[in-house]
Amino acid sequence: MSTVAAPSPALSPEAPDPRLLRQCALRRAELARRIAESGGGVALLPTAPERMRNRDADYPYRHDSYFYYLSGFTEPQSLMLLVVEPDASHRSILFCRPRDAEREIWDGLRFGPDAAREAFGFDAAFAIDQIDTALPALLFDRAALWWPFGVHEGLESRVQGWLQAVRAQARAGHRAPSVQYDLCMPLDDMRLFKDAYELQVMRCAAAISCDAHRRVMRAAGAGAAADLREYHLEAELLHAFRRAGAQSPAYGSIVAAGANACILHYRAGNAVLRPGSLCLVDAGCELDGYASDITRTFPVGGRFGGAQRELYEIVLQAQREAIAASRAGARFTDPHEAALRVLAQGLLDCGLIRRDVAADVDGVLQTGAYRRFYMHRTSHWLGMDVHDCGDYAEAGEAPRQLPGGARQPAARILRESMVLTIEPGLYVRAADDLPPAFHDIGIRIEDDVVVRALGDCEVLTAAAPKGVAEIEQVMHG
Ligand code: GLY
Ligand code: MN
Ligand code: MN
Repeated sequence: MSTVAAPSPALSPEAPDPRLLRQCALRRAELARRIAESGGGVALLPTAPERMRNRDADYPYRHDSYFYYLSGFTEPQSLMLLVVEPDASHRSILFCRPRDAEREIWDGLRFGPDAAREAFGFDAAFAIDQIDTALPALLFDRAALWWPFGVHEGLESRVQGWLQAVRAQARAGHRAPSVQYDLCMPLDDMRLFKDAYELQVMRCAAAISCDAHRRVMRAAGAGAAADLREYHLEAELLHAFRRAGAQSPAYGSIVAAGANACILHYRAGNAVLRPGSLCLVDAGCELDGYASDITRTFPVGGRFGGAQRELYEIVLQAQREAIAASRAGARFTDPHEAALRVLAQGLLDCGLIRRDVAADVDGVLQTGAYRRFYMHRTSHWLGMDVHDCGDYAEAGEAPRQLPGGARQPAARILRESMVLTIEPGLYVRAADDLPPAFHDIGIRIEDDVVVRALGDCEVLTAAAPKGVAEIEQVMHG
């Protein structure tokens, strides 16, 4: 017999934000509409698993983004179903952890099925340990099963097990769904267009991250400690994120001193920030499930040197032109192409690409000579995930035939309420054939933008300083 008292209903987890729940209900209705277009069926969606770090220590838990998008529910060991009729009417069903007085002492409060159904607006809810008996019956005689392909390890065999349990009822007259679809397809497309609530959260996440970048610049500005290291700036970021209520960084923060900035996936380490060298900081918080993603590059001590400034101005101009190209009706690749032209011209002007290698901008682009200094793309979608979901190709458009026979998919057309990053850079590793003044300089400038209806975009991260004078001013207090 348990010695632990039953959990008190007065002790329950924090109530969800009603604005979020309204959006989740609208999203479920939209998903149901899309599923009904192919005859209806059942959508099945688990949240993310908990992951053990070592022995009794877990990695911090983070829900699955698709699951949260439709449910607003953040507890682990949960799964939801959306049962959709051919007329798009639907029922939502949650499986979640049952209340457990003993476990709640150790791991924290749980909603339990009854309170979760009530609080999150599901039509029904069951304990997750009933899933193998309850779920097959919910699949009886449904035309199709939608589930996220290739996302959750082990889900495919569980799905096959549940379908097998339905097939075992054939003699009772029940049929199993005969078609399976990838649930990510409609959800990726829905998530690509942010609703007003999502944009509001993303504006807040961006504002917190902008403050964090200012804080970092001040810490590395005039009067910075002599032994200032990358991890000190990472600490400033974390302080600013958590202090403002963000749950965590949206990705591992990059704080890269000097030559480390030329390592694209560098993480904040121990390197000393040498006065007069550049520091690249790529960091953004996650707030209520939404990411921000900002890069700023600044001079330790607060004054750009001549060569640093020359390259910085090139990247800044490339970024400004890429932002100007981020508008409804343009292609996803247009900002990249706009940035590339500025970078190419800049690389020629400053002598990093010699005129005998490429005579002009078109030559730099055709030969790919810029790739030595700029080897990544300018943008990615941003949302719940830092590299958010969403197709980069425009559906229904024929690929472009390239010289040499290769085919290039037609890039996605930008539309209102898509959110993307704009993040050009230049990375100059020391080499004998390059002017020494530019050696080991790595610069990236990254903002998050929302495509607006009226031919431009909103820069969510405009409050993070990026002009040379503005940065120097902030760094001098
Ligand atoms: N911070 C990851 C990226 O910029 O893509
Ligand atoms: Mn990015
Ligand atoms: Mn970034």
